[in-house]
Amino acid sequence: MRIIKTATYEEMSQRAAHIVAAHITLNPACVLGLATGSTPEGLYAELVRLHRLGDLDFRQVKTVNLDEYRHLPRNHPESYYTFMQKHLLSKINIDPANTHLPNGELADAQVACTEYETILRSTGGVDLQLLGIGRNGHIGFNEPDSVFPKDTHCVRLSESTIEANARFFSSADEVPREAYTMGVGTIMRAQRILLVASGKSKAEAVFQTVCGPVTPEVPASILQFHHDATIICDEEAGALLP
Ligand code: F6R
Repeated sequence: MRIIKTATYEEMSQRAAHIVAAHITLNPACVLGLATGSTPEGLYAELVRLHRLGDLDFRQVKTVNLDEYRHLPRNHPESYYTFMQKHLLSKINIDPANTHLPNGELADAQVACTEYETILRSTGGVDLQLLGIGRNGHIGFNEPDSVFPKDTHCVRLSESTIEANARFFSSADEVPREAYTMGVGTIMRAQRILLVASGKSKAEAVFQTVCGPVTPEVPASILQFHHDATIICDEEAGALLP
């Protein structure tokens, strides 16, 4: 596991964006696995800036997102579909047909998960997977558990995640209780993984991910077994690392 510590959130975002940009330059038809949440916002802003400078071409890129809230309409202001449009997809020259998220509007979880697995397989697999990390060590919406879930599945969000995501809604009661998420198995099949972490609320999760035992209680700890995983964290998120 490669660890890059940066002084600030801005530097973390730039370093991560330049890794993604280099990957696209070398592999113009690559499949990017994308994450939402506040951490990658700066990274996406930098990708948009590089695109506007004429340095980054998304014409052949395909994207698959990690997760989506269940039962939230696609155009809801806090859906991950809306997030991706707002921060990246509507601002670059990507073909909308090449961008995918789980369909949170499908009430039948079995149908929604099978459909997304079919899409993931049709892309041929993720080349570079971007991840954030939950305060409890979750990746995607794979919450602490007694097993590592393999494929796309429906999860009940933990209290910690509902509380953390309440800031995006008018109250914690508004946060959807369930989501569809790629499994840990799917994430681990990506050729390369890039995890970004910022702020002191992530310090313990980052420490357990890098230095703790590999356990489904800290889903991100499985990255210790990935052959090409990089963590970029700012000073506060990396504060407990030796
Ligand atoms: C979102 C996702 C989540 C977030 C994590 C951190 O697609 O996969 O695992 O990355 O909850 O969220 P922020 O960045 O808001 O702290």
